[in-house]
Amino acid sequence: MAPRSQYDPIATQYTSYTTVPDMRLEASLVRTALGPCQPTDIILDLGGGSGLHARTAVDLGAGRVDVVDISPEMLLAGRQIEESLGRTDRRIRYIHSDVTKPLPPHLAEQKYDVVMANWVLDHAESMDDLIGMWRNIASALKPGGRFVNVRVRCLRAGYLTRGKYGVVFSDFEEIVTGGPGWRYNVSFRLDGVPVVFEATSMEATLGLDHSIPESMGMGGWGIVPLEEDEVVKGDREYWADHVGEPSFVVVVGRKLGG
Ligand SMILES: C[S@@+](CC[C@H](N)C(=O)[O-])C[C@H]1O[C@@H](n2cnc3c(N)ncnc32)[C@H](O)[C@@H]1O
Repeated sequence: MAPRSQYDPIATQYTSYTTVPDMRLEASLVRTALGPCQPTDIILDLGGGSGLHARTAVDLGAGRVDVVDISPEMLLAGRQIEESLGRTDRRIRYIHSDVTKPLPPHLAEQKYDVVMANWVLDHAESMDDLIGMWRNIASALKPGGRFVNVRVRCLRAGYLTRGKYGVVFSDFEEIVTGGPGWRYNVSFRLDGVPVVFEATSMEATLGLDHSIPESMGMGGWGIVPLEEDEVVKGDREYWADHVGEPSFVVVVGRKLGG
């Protein structure tokens, strides 16, 4: 089982993740999924780490982003970036919590216009963890509120073993108890330094099976189209393997009603 603190030692390097080709595509797709944000938009970013996508939301005009993460060092790295940007308005708040469990009361009472959960569903170590995450997502969203989610879609595309887009998946192990799902290593280089962490993807997440969130009042699913993305359009030949069999996708959805 992956230690919950596995991101602590890599937190500082993680902030330079944008140098990885996969990440340039991810950043562009998340930007599209978020679209223009309103100053009245309050966003929750579950497993938001050092605030990579929270900063995008603020740049797009969001009023506030609450980043929740289990890694104290990722949160510290995010706070330090805010300080280095000279932002003292606390538009991004960093909160320590395990998102498989009910959120702290001051967050649980708030209803959000947008909830992001980027890569964190791929850290659910069991179906119980996954249900706990979806419960937080569904209960935090306002009726009509939007959901944005980067997730692993395909574990074994050929280009992943070669690291064509900077990221390698390896050492697969089937999760039977608490699953079905897969435990595997994710590796890439940041600033020339190799980084490895363990991820866990349930079959339901990989297969885009949304019966759990649908039972919690969510729907309106979609995938941000790869073919129309600016990064892909910039070099269609290079990105053809990813477009043919995406290792990750950006899923959007919403809380029904409103
Ligand atoms: C791959 S990183 C992604 C960070 C950020 N969402 C992004 O896209 O840049 C996954 C993050 O999920 C966090 N995480 C994993 N399990 C978690 C849990 N149970 N509760 C809260 N955060 C968790 C990790 O600490 C890490 O910061």
